[in-house]
Amino acid sequence: MIMLPRTYCILRIILLVPGLLADDECTAMDMQSRAYKLWDCRSLPTFICNMLLCNPRIPLNVQLLAVVQIGLRITVYGKPKKNARRFTFNLKQNGSEREMPSIALHFDARFDYYSERRVIVINSNIWGERLWRNGVRIKRFPFTRGSNFKILFIVVRQGFEIYVNEKFIHTYRHIVPLKNITHVFMNFDVDVDRLDIRPLYYVRL
Ligand SMILES: *[C@@H]1O[C@H](CO)[C@@H](O)[C@H](O)[C@H]1NC(C)=O
Ligand SMILES: *[C@@H]1O[C@H](CO)[C@@H](O)[C@H](O)[C@H]1NC(C)=O
Repeated sequence: MIMLPRTYCILRIILLVPGLLADDECTAMDMQSRAYKLWDCRSLPTFICNMLLCNPRIPLNVQLLAVVQIGLRITVYGKPKKNARRFTFNLKQNGSEREMPSIALHFDARFDYYSERRVIVINSNIWGERLWRNGVRIKRFPFTRGSNFKILFIVVRQGFEIYVNEKFIHTYRHIVPLKNITHVFMNFDVDVDRLDIRPLYYVRL
């Protein structure tokens, strides 16, 4: 009666600690080699599915190892280019362009894009549609060309919580099922130093 929960707790702690302690820095060598560091949760006995991408090439389109579920955190450390017009971060479903795969979260930072100045546009696209839905425009623009930023996306029950440089920006309501999200995509005028993807914890038994 007592042993089972205790064993369970110890197991949980043993599984959690490597994830929390995981080295999340990119060394100079990692930056140069554009290292992908994966803790692959799909292979036993590794239960942690953190991903760390060092200095990834843009455009970036990478498959998520983690199942997207509540608690997943994605942190992007980067810098808009000196002449940046815009940059994009998407959480999306895989598929060919022709299929128009779902984009659960389209986060577009626009410095100067057609008639738009200093605005973040967030919206979604549903599989096969040509409509952008659920659009939100954020006028409090936290980015500066050539300056480092940190963007944190946290999956919560109601949506994606978004923070830039530790300041809360918005909670964007889910309209695409989490199970449809398989890829992270980034593009346009940005250099990414580090992309860190980690579930709060994830145990597949
Ligand atoms: C992603 O979608 C493309 C086009 O449908 C397909 O060729 C490719 O195998 C898919 N990749 C994965 C990892 O599912
Ligand atoms: C989710 O993915 C399935 C295919 O796996 C697709 O049929 C469905 O339309 C997608 N739904 C949304 C809202 O993206």
